[in-house]
Amino acid sequence: MSQPSPASGGSAARLVDSPARFAVEKDPIALFARLFAEAQRVEPHDATAVALATADASARPAVRMVLLKGVEADGFVFFTNYGSRKAQDLEQNPQAALCFHWPSLGVQVRVEGAVRRESASGSDVYFQSRPRGSQLSAWASQQSTAMAGRETLLQSYAAVCERFGEGPVPRPDFWGGYRLSPKRIEFWASQPYRLHDRLLYLRSDGGWETTRLFP
Ligand SMILES: Cc1cc2nc3c(=O)[nH]c(=O)nc-3n(C[C@H](O)[C@H](O)[C@H](O)COP(=O)(O)O)c2cc1C
Repeated sequence: MSQPSPASGGSAARLVDSPARFAVEKDPIALFARLFAEAQRVEPHDATAVALATADASARPAVRMVLLKGVEADGFVFFTNYGSRKAQDLEQNPQAALCFHWPSLGVQVRVEGAVRRESASGSDVYFQSRPRGSQLSAWASQQSTAMAGRETLLQSYAAVCERFGEGPVPRPDFWGGYRLSPKRIEFWASQPYRLHDRLLYLRSDGGWETTRLFP
């Protein structure tokens, strides 16, 4: 990959013109929201997709993709089955990390913090916004448990369709949201010569402390 030429001139020949991509600002959630909106405009794939890392009570890690369905000052929200492996991890050890990568922006964002279940009313609102097929499949899947074969899933889906007919589909009590309350957010931007920009926000009593990290 071609690199831009370093600024020239005497002993400053090695000084490259690579300004920080992220200006220090007070609120990392606002910075995240701007980048997220931009990623949703320009990424060819789903910019809400994010790697979610959890660990069980023995600190054994696991990671998988989820979709980010909301971001506010007090949390990053995703939805899942409360019987799933990730949910079991979170019940045993309510800490998690998220890692977004938006290649079109050359940006990675890492978020870490404590996780709690989303309120029942918040989960209801989101569940009712889902397409009907997704509402029905939430009932049909005992996520992350073993099944005899794909037919089992399809039969389960058919039984759920029969059960609810044309009527409304309520949220199953075994399905809902989690909210990760950020303690640490790190923004990374790709820069020439691998002189990448990293800006770390750590939650402190009065707000957020910022630190630049070597790449
Ligand atoms: C792009 C993408 C998005 C996904 N979004 C979700 C999601 O929002 N919620 C979810 O439960 N699983 C989602 N999945 C499936 C999970 O990655 C995972 O397979 C499933 O939740 C079971 O994980 P677990 O056994 O660790 O609980 C998604 C998978 C992909 C590839």
